Amino acid sequence: MNDKTALIGATSEVADMGVNEGKKMSKEKRKFFILEDLDAITNRAAEIFTNMAEQEVKRKGVFTVTLSGGSTPKSLYSLLADEEKSFRNRIPWEKIHFFWGDERCVPFEHPDSNYRMVNESLLSKVPVKAEQIHPIMTAGMDVEKASESYGQLLTSFFSLEDGGIPNFDLVLLGMGDDGHTASLFFGSDALNEKRLFVVADRISKFNSHRISLTVPVLNNATSILFLVSGRNKAKVLKDVIHGTKQGLYPVQLIVPVNGKELWLVDRDAGSLLD
Ligand code: 6PG
Repeated sequence: MNDKTALIGATSEVADMGVNEGKKMSKEKRKFFILEDLDAITNRAAEIFTNMAEQEVKRKGVFTVTLSGGSTPKSLYSLLADEEKSFRNRIPWEKIHFFWGDERCVPFEHPDSNYRMVNESLLSKVPVKAEQIHPIMTAGMDVEKASESYGQLLTSFFSLEDGGIPNFDLVLLGMGDDGHTASLFFGSDALNEKRLFVVADRISKFNSHRISLTVPVLNNATSILFLVSGRNKAKVLKDVIHGTKQGLYPVQLIVPVNGKELWLVDRDAGSLLD
């Protein structure tokens, strides 16, 4: 495949996602782009992020984004911060608020910390103030307390009344080769949480606790952007896209209520798709 994207699903609203594709197709909420490799995904995601940040800041003066852990988005963070590339200088950094979609219950300096990864690859390199950065405070906290505290932070930041749900402009997500996303794993009660914005969960496969935004919050985003790379994701992605084994994978619960969902998938991860 050359570097031209192979489209699955509509691209009509991709332009609204800040990507000027110019192609008009039938409207769908969920759109897929299969791109050549991780580098292509990263560049396309940087284009989307930058366009959305510019548009939202121009429209309402602020851009809210929840960041994902994992290795795939890390290359995006580095690209956004890269002084040699165009994205950094276009992004209105001082108007962006950064949140996390999930966190491991470890100190910030721990190698597994999503905060540490994002801080090292992005936030420490761009002109943002501490008050724009909203990490999930796990250090020295009981996991339930940490989860509750982040929920309160979201309620306050979004000035929510009873029944309100945080509305992030952009939720950035990855997908594990077991179909998890954020820290929502198969078989977890967290998958069924409808009231709380944030939950703590003990993940048996890692023998550790994690904190995650819940499905209602993720699905209330204006835009959801999945970055998926690697052949080890191909089987799950095929099931997710073709709707087989419905309900088996947490990522299948991510369906935007009013927003848009865009998947940027590399050729390896998309290798089993029709
Ligand atoms: C995390 C992420 C997690 C990640 C997937 C995919 O904290 O690890 O939130 O959901 O997105 O595990 O990770 P890769 O992109 O590294 O495959």
